[in-house]
Amino acid sequence: MRPDYRLNYHLMGEYGWINDPNGFVQYKGHYHLFYQHYPYLPEWGPMHWGHAVSRDLIKWEYRPIALAPDESYDAGGCFSGSAIEKDGLLHLIYTGHVVTGPDASNDYRQTQNLAVSDDGVRFRKHAGNPVIGLPQIPAGASRKDFRDPKVFERNGMYYVVLGSNDGQGNGQILLYRSGDLVDWTYVGVMAKSGGEMGDNWECPDFFSIGGTDFLMFSPQRMPSQGRDYWNLHSTVYMRGRWDEQTGAFHSEGYAPMDQGFDFYAPQSALDDRGRRIVIGWMDMWESDMPTQKGHQWAGAMTLPREMIVRDGQVRFRPVEEIESYRGEFFELRGVELEGEAPLETAGDSYELEAVFDAGEAERFGLKLRVGGGEETVLSYSPREGVFTFDRNRSGIGPGGVRETEIPLRDGKLKLRAFVDRSSLEVFLQDGEKVMTARIYPGSGSLGIAAFSEGKSKLEALRKWDIR
Ligand code: FRU
Repeated sequence: MRPDYRLNYHLMGEYGWINDPNGFVQYKGHYHLFYQHYPYLPEWGPMHWGHAVSRDLIKWEYRPIALAPDESYDAGGCFSGSAIEKDGLLHLIYTGHVVTGPDASNDYRQTQNLAVSDDGVRFRKHAGNPVIGLPQIPAGASRKDFRDPKVFERNGMYYVVLGSNDGQGNGQILLYRSGDLVDWTYVGVMAKSGGEMGDNWECPDFFSIGGTDFLMFSPQRMPSQGRDYWNLHSTVYMRGRWDEQTGAFHSEGYAPMDQGFDFYAPQSALDDRGRRIVIGWMDMWESDMPTQKGHQWAGAMTLPREMIVRDGQVRFRPVEEIESYRGEFFELRGVELEGEAPLETAGDSYELEAVFDAGEAERFGLKLRVGGGEETVLSYSPREGVFTFDRNRSGIGPGGVRETEIPLRDGKLKLRAFVDRSSLEVFLQDGEKVMTARIYPGSGSLGIAAFSEGKSKLEALRKWDIR
């Protein structure tokens, strides 16, 4: 395997292709993460479930492939799904994809299926599969887009949310209920696009944080709104209140999960410390992935992020376990900026925290992975109140710019960036917003610079290499 672009502290496949995180769960002392996987080539193909386990969400060990498409009901692929422990056994519920005609991208059927394990490694598919079949698709829902079950338990009952659309161009989420994970009853449409949120919804997830209920899902082809939703497909969280009796979710509004280029199909798990942890696929459909040519792999996961609600506001922060991988430390304090100032530090695997005082500057920020004409530019315009992530000169691979509005706090901007060889995740103002992207700079592009058009001040910069 070529080492260039292989990530140091993010989960990737061992080889071949990966996409969505699946079956994220804590079971018998380990975090388990499964993922959509084509093990033979670095491109999408009949989906398997790859599998990795971790004690700290950072260092992962591979386990054998958990599911392969080897039954009549999943011959076209074991598509996305989730995991839950019941009676000490680990249950996976996933979509069986079957191609039914000559045009594989249109002629298909999808059903929901169960697989069970007593050791968390070897899974046996349930003899009665599918457990949610075609006859259980309600009238007014797509007959073919019916996938990505996320299971949860409430008051002794099991539920799954399923991605769907209404056949008229609106994404929606269907809700099913079961007492035993085997016999499922349709409850209703949990939420639906009013025309502005994409034509099909994938990978729904439902959870509560504090007293607030959340739906998280991935709308396909959602039109942009202002500076939001500029990727081909998007990921949103909707906050509100779920009515357990009717199954309906009463929305109080929605927002993007991430404002960068490469974040899709996230899945969450609640751990034994009460944390709601989200992992996303750190790539985007139909976006060029340079490792597909000449490398044996494609696809990676984001850092696990805790989703929290503080003072009524949603925030994201990387799980604190990453801090125990901090190595060499570098620090600057009180640097007056005007023009560009290269820093006396460099790298391609680090965490960096910076606090800027905007002062009178027109624009200020950081350049990362600088070298040989390459740079990835993170900048802020106080006048517009807009943060910009520019990867047009990042290296090979797709370019582009993403922007997000974020106010200064007491005239200050705080950012926390995680650089890892071919990825960059930026947390703004203590996780009010996050921007995630893959970048593919040359291995010698390691420089870091601060810059300011007009006067600003770098109040503090702290950097730790990540081992
Ligand atoms: C989302 C998705 C899911 C599907 C899976 C197939 O990225 O399209 O809806 O189950 O990928 O790999």
